[in-house]
Amino acid sequence: MKYVDWLKEKGLEYRDGVLHFADMNTIEIAEKFGTPIYIISEEMIRSQYKKLKRILDSEYKNNSIHYAMKANSNLSILKILDSEGACFDCTSTGEIHTCLKAGISPSKIIYTGNMFTNDDFKFAVKNDILVNLDSISQLKRLVKIYDDLGKEKEIVSFRINPEFGAGHHSHTITAGKTIKFGILDDQVIEAYSKAKEFGFKKFGTHIHIGSGIINAYDFEKAIDKYLTIIMKLADTLDITFEFLDFGGGLGIPYRPEEDPLDLELYKTIALKKFKELVEKGNFGEPEFIIEPGRYLSAEACIILTQINTIKDNGFKMFAGTNTGFNTLLRPAMYGSYHHIITCNKKNKEKILTYDIVGPICESGDIIGKERKLPKLEEGDYLAILDTGAYGFAMSSSYNSRPRPAEILIDKGQVFKIREAETFEDLIRNQDIPEHLK
Ligand SMILES: Cc1ncc(COP(=O)(O)O)c(C=O)c1O
Repeated sequence: MKYVDWLKEKGLEYRDGVLHFADMNTIEIAEKFGTPIYIISEEMIRSQYKKLKRILDSEYKNNSIHYAMKANSNLSILKILDSEGACFDCTSTGEIHTCLKAGISPSKIIYTGNMFTNDDFKFAVKNDILVNLDSISQLKRLVKIYDDLGKEKEIVSFRINPEFGAGHHSHTITAGKTIKFGILDDQVIEAYSKAKEFGFKKFGTHIHIGSGIINAYDFEKAIDKYLTIIMKLADTLDITFEFLDFGGGLGIPYRPEEDPLDLELYKTIALKKFKELVEKGNFGEPEFIIEPGRYLSAEACIILTQINTIKDNGFKMFAGTNTGFNTLLRPAMYGSYHHIITCNKKNKEKILTYDIVGPICESGDIIGKERKLPKLEEGDYLAILDTGAYGFAMSSSYNSRPRPAEILIDKGQVFKIREAETFEDLIRNQDIPEHLK
């Protein structure tokens, strides 16, 4: 793909030398709202959801996309996806609370936590949220909560670990025998037969093998194994399934030389095989579920940042910005690549090599290593791409730097959807004991 087309796919283009994102002039936004700032395009979230939904609908109508809101839990993003018809995957009671605050129906939420406490279960059961268990030991505790609350045990699901994982970094591979998530093949019969004995009437299953998978073939072994396990379960226990959840993990092209995930191939590997088995008819007519986070929100957001210091130490050039790993953790946490471009292309030639760094007092505070860019000057603005997933969500106020604002742009309009934190926010929940006052 040509570089300009790669940028265009992400809503980015230069007009008269100025970077525009979703038709908005980035320099005007930076000057009006200050930096750093997360800018989110409503249209791009909608179109990414629609693209994925269209692919699933073309093969099997009984499907749903559960947005993994850990990627970006801003209320406005939840509202946008809810209005498109999305469902939601939550990993904590805090996320469930946020969904409910956004007006999302409990029936659209699956709670895929891990290492659940009894309080987690109580919260879920009280709010009629379907729980996706992560260990056989949790079943008994969940049942007790249902009984204590006098609620009918309706449906339960287990996260199955299909032992083949994939992901952009070892920390984001979530399947395999040494990985903490889910139950292994040997345990599934025991898990579902116990669930049956405890009186659950309906069943679902789930896998999630990792995050940031850009090659669709990386899903194949895990999905084949998952489907084999499902057939074994259905045959052995004579049960059918309300849904099979294939998890998230759908990657996006962070680097200009990367092609987008081949959705048609993903469909062949996951949905077509699933459909063939459904047609053979031994495990009911379950809903096909996926739960992408990154795929829906990552490309819809850029961070605008300003260069405050250009330092040439005689060995290396540093472009110091006001965005550090407090604002975007992925490069420091995973060594992840985020493409960085200038907002004003007054010098077009990429002639110099810079480390783009932040203001955090750690030498690992590097947002982009050895980037070839036009000659940069103090005061210039840069755009850091693909920051809508695990961007704000993983941000912190480390070094006592308040988190930045988030704005939503749509059809030429700008909406502030999160105020920047203040210095007062940094100390808000602290108490000083009497003897220190
Ligand atoms: C259970 C589960 N589902 C879905 C996701 C979303 O992953 P991604 O953003 O890569 O699609 C995650 C991410 O950690 C997860 O743990």
